[in-house]
Amino acid sequence: MAKFPVEPFKIKVVEPIRQTSAEERAEILRRAGYNLFAVRAEDVYVDLLTDSGTSAMSDRQWAGVMRGDEAYAGCRNFFNLEEAVQTITGFRHFVPTHQGRAAENVLFTCTVAPGQSVPSNMHFDTTQANVLARGGHPVNLIALAGLDPTLHAPFKGDMDVARLEAFIQETGPENIPLGMLTVTNNSGGGQPVSMANIRATGEALHKYGIPFFLDACRYAENAYFIKLRDPDYAETPVLEIAREMFSYADGCTMSAKKDALVNIGGFLALHDEALYQRVCQELIIREGFPTYGGLAGRDLEAVARGLWEGLDEGYLAYRIAHTRYLADRLVEEGVPILEPPGGHAVYLNVKRFLPHIPQSELPGQALTCALYVEGGVRGVEIGSVMFAHEDAATGETVYPDLELVRLAIPRRVYTQAHLDYVVETCRTLYERREEILGLRYTYAPRLLRHFTARFEPV
Ligand SMILES: Cc1ncc(COP(=O)(O)O)c(C=O)c1O
Repeated sequence: MAKFPVEPFKIKVVEPIRQTSAEERAEILRRAGYNLFAVRAEDVYVDLLTDSGTSAMSDRQWAGVMRGDEAYAGCRNFFNLEEAVQTITGFRHFVPTHQGRAAENVLFTCTVAPGQSVPSNMHFDTTQANVLARGGHPVNLIALAGLDPTLHAPFKGDMDVARLEAFIQETGPENIPLGMLTVTNNSGGGQPVSMANIRATGEALHKYGIPFFLDACRYAENAYFIKLRDPDYAETPVLEIAREMFSYADGCTMSAKKDALVNIGGFLALHDEALYQRVCQELIIREGFPTYGGLAGRDLEAVARGLWEGLDEGYLAYRIAHTRYLADRLVEEGVPILEPPGGHAVYLNVKRFLPHIPQSELPGQALTCALYVEGGVRGVEIGSVMFAHEDAATGETVYPDLELVRLAIPRRVYTQAHLDYVVETCRTLYERREEILGLRYTYAPRLLRHFTARFEPV
């Protein structure tokens, strides 16, 4: 047996990538306003900006693309996708959307009124922004273990269910149109949520008549973590674990760009008939007719096939081990990361990497810039740029507890040698960490600031 994860696929198509010099990259970064989102992908060597929409599709998915039926209504690919979604999630109704945030938009438009609150273990940035855009309050109630970047615990994505109940009682169930759980918890290190916690969260919400939705982007990785870490599920097929996860919820939003291994796509699935009718109306205005929902027939087919491939246990074993390999190698080199690693990404622990830069000088963003200049590696800040906000009462800036740089691993794209290169880049940078300087804003939009903000060195 090899001591490293061996790819359960072979490569049929390749895409060349090129190295630039550190001097070239420093200039590219300056022109991009020190924001990696503004750097051209061609100027990146190993692109770990996101695992979303960056998967390599299989030959079977590409063959499915050729089976695209581009009829406006009732294309065959819709029914293939419907069968996959209903078999896996068990939800009665579903509509395709062009990606996850479109499902969030449609769901919150139909459910959230201004002033209402939506509790979650931890909202992802688009979920948070979509709640805010409806005048609602996104509320994060993650259990404390999930905020400790060094604690080794199996399910650090869990909701603090006692806090959830207290929150419902304080706020009043009539002011909470739905509650959510993000599986796995992307903004908190890609950490999984346990089956017991999914069940308990559903029970707590249902006790007060509040619907419960999963943000299910990485449901398959979450299900595989349950298999690995909860002895009660060690022998249970991942499909069954996933079905049980969904069985406690009333619906889910899904970005198929993650665990359905496609480059575009998503869906909203739910039981409630009346809500489904409203969702369809909203969908038609925003996305398209309910049998295509913002996607071409060929994309629907790729999602249908990708959903099954994303649940394959050989693939999932490799996927989790591949991520773990990067984390273990970084730890070996003494580079501080959030432990244990999540399913789709390794998160550098910026407060320990750059203790000399205060959060007001955006150390996470500074580290993404330094990684790019050092090795052409692109990660993303998940810290003060993404989440710091003004306290409504005091006007003071509230900084997030975790300051992270996420190195997200695209599915089936990079080999072990690429990961070794990333380790080498991080190690070299860690040795020279005192040379890294903080940043300040030269432009900062109000919502989803990290995508378009610009910076300069302090
Ligand atoms: C947990 C989570 N929810 C929602 C989304 C939004 O999905 P999309 O990018 O497809 O709009 C993402 C995307 O990264 C995510 O990670």
